[in-house]
Amino acid sequence: MSAATPVDETALAADRYAVIGNPIAHSKSPLIHAQFARQTGEHIDYGRLLAPLDGFVAEVNAFRAAGGRGMNVTVPFKLEAHALAHRLSPRAAAAGAVNTLRFDAEGIFGDNTDGFGLVRDIESNLGVALKGARVLLLGAGGAARGVVLPMLERGPREITIVNRTAAKAHDLIGQFAAAAAEAGCLLNGGGPHAIDPSPYDVIVNATAGSLDATLPECDERAFGTGTLAYDMMYGAQPTVFMRHAQSLGARAADGLGMLVEQAAESFYVWRGVRPDSAPVLAALRAQLAAQG
Ligand code: ATR
Repeated sequence: MSAATPVDETALAADRYAVIGNPIAHSKSPLIHAQFARQTGEHIDYGRLLAPLDGFVAEVNAFRAAGGRGMNVTVPFKLEAHALAHRLSPRAAAAGAVNTLRFDAEGIFGDNTDGFGLVRDIESNLGVALKGARVLLLGAGGAARGVVLPMLERGPREITIVNRTAAKAHDLIGQFAAAAAEAGCLLNGGGPHAIDPSPYDVIVNATAGSLDATLPECDERAFGTGTLAYDMMYGAQPTVFMRHAQSLGARAADGLGMLVEQAAESFYVWRGVRPDSAPVLAALRAQLAAQG
């Protein structure tokens, strides 16, 4: 009988993950996941992958063939990732987009943790319960679509989806009508005139407006002192939407917490372990403030 060879765990190759996008150099995901790995003792290696605009699928397949275990997917590949996945989580199917891929024995599993990240940031980090809340969602693109189901699951009283192009808001309302009815939530909206001229509990800016510092059209009476105005974007300085909300007496938050929380949920999807997001968010916030 031969003696068992002792295994040095640290000598085993780390499980490989990466964030893929174009551009990708700015991504904070490697930093976030390195901290999660340290914190939880998970042995992973997480890198960045720049894919050519027409080369997403080839890059993913090469990474997977080389033993990669999973990926985060960012702009502009979330729709392609949705199409590539062999299986989808319900939230990824509802979002029509995938930000998390897990490679396992059954193939490519696609998930979407963005909406969960937003909900978690609003409820756990910012302390605002969505149960029974009146929510105004500004925008009807991919970012807005991804948050509707995770929000409905928290039991809000009403979600009003408003978009510059009203038809796109109506499309989303139609898509989620059954889920809203099941959740007992009033789902309505349309163009900017569909906004109720009285304060909402939560207003989420899911438009791309903050990218070029434009404010989505929104009745000022929708903002009150009890309103949380949440911008899914973030930067070293408050966004124009946040400053506008604050000038109207509302409390404002940016999307940095959402970034960390969606990453924490991806980590859980891959590893089955929940990291503690608070110290990671605090470190990123401090780093961002130092840049500002
Ligand atoms: P994403 O995937 O980031 O949501 P998208 O699908 O291109 O990107 O959607 C962008 C969203 O921001 C849309 O709701 C868009 O409104 P339209 O459907 O009318 O185009 C919205 N948006 C972009 N710029 C805006 C602006 N300056 N004011 C108001 N809404 C704006």
